[in-house]
Amino acid sequence: MIIDDLSNGNLEALRRVERLSGKSIEFFHGDLTEPETVRKCFDGINVEAVIHLAGLKAVGESVDQPARYYRVNLGSTLTLLNTMQERGINRLVFSSSATVYGEPQTSLISESHPVGVGIANPYGWSKAMNEQIISDVARSWPQLSVTLLRYFNPVGAHHSGQIGEAPSGKPNNLMPFIAQVAARRREFLTVFGNDYDTPDGTGVRDYIHVMDLAEGHLAALLHLKSGVKTYNLGSGEGTSVLQAIGAFEKASERAIPYEIYPRRSGDLASVVADPLLAKTEIGWQTRRTFEDACRDAWTWQSLNPHGYDVAK
Ligand code: WQD
Repeated sequence: MIIDDLSNGNLEALRRVERLSGKSIEFFHGDLTEPETVRKCFDGINVEAVIHLAGLKAVGESVDQPARYYRVNLGSTLTLLNTMQERGINRLVFSSSATVYGEPQTSLISESHPVGVGIANPYGWSKAMNEQIISDVARSWPQLSVTLLRYFNPVGAHHSGQIGEAPSGKPNNLMPFIAQVAARRREFLTVFGNDYDTPDGTGVRDYIHVMDLAEGHLAALLHLKSGVKTYNLGSGEGTSVLQAIGAFEKASERAIPYEIYPRRSGDLASVVADPLLAKTEIGWQTRRTFEDACRDAWTWQSLNPHGYDVAK
């Protein structure tokens, strides 16, 4: 069952997931911050576990609209936890983010890295606060089994090219922007700074194929134990902006023109996971490469130049 307010989702994507999975999905169009909505969705269905992915996630937008970000991102979690406790649903996987680590103190970031020091935006704070809320509720509800998954940088698409990332308007993130330059929907890529303390001066990130990310959720679900466990979902490999451009040019056989601009405020030089804990405790590690993600993202972009807007 899926509950979504479709503020950043699309029914066409759900239809394609049904086709790809051969399963039917019960869909509720609703606002997860509304207790009545969540109760209605849970009525008449035996919910065994919840994977909570719903939330606003644009870093820049969160700086402009902090109250909305806290209302939606914290409100949805509080409402969900409350209804879960009312209905005795005590298994939860939550989508958190590497943003909770703030300014990295180490080249590889493990789950024991401090959280909250130097978080530069309300989006990141909403993820850190959600982790705190969930951990406090878990302490008061010993039957609750929770896994917090700290995503690094999700990229790519399903290899079929049927489902993928369809940002509305100008993409905030690097990879969808690069894909649109390759498709000639954007003239050139703006590289935000080449004077970082990194091998080629551009920002380094741990890009994880979205299908590896999905498999990480399955592994978390299958290994849920009482109490709270936290895992990084990352590859452990860093890729710079210039390396990403080169890899995408190879995958798409298209030139990606770019121009060097000043740094983007709030950006960090390098954010790369230590992925060891997930490997040892839930038997999960990335299986796909960054090149696989470029190939799959290009397939998705080429087959769906207007995202899910099939009317175009
Ligand atoms: C990656 C690199 C930019 C765009 C954000 C959120 C994080 C997570 C993933 C949800 C950086 C550079 C980017 C562009 C560029 N979201 N860049 N030109 O900022 O690492 O993480 O998205 O969980 O919470 O913070 O991702 O893709 O925006 O940037 O040069 O047009 O690409 O400077 O080095 P980021 P990103």
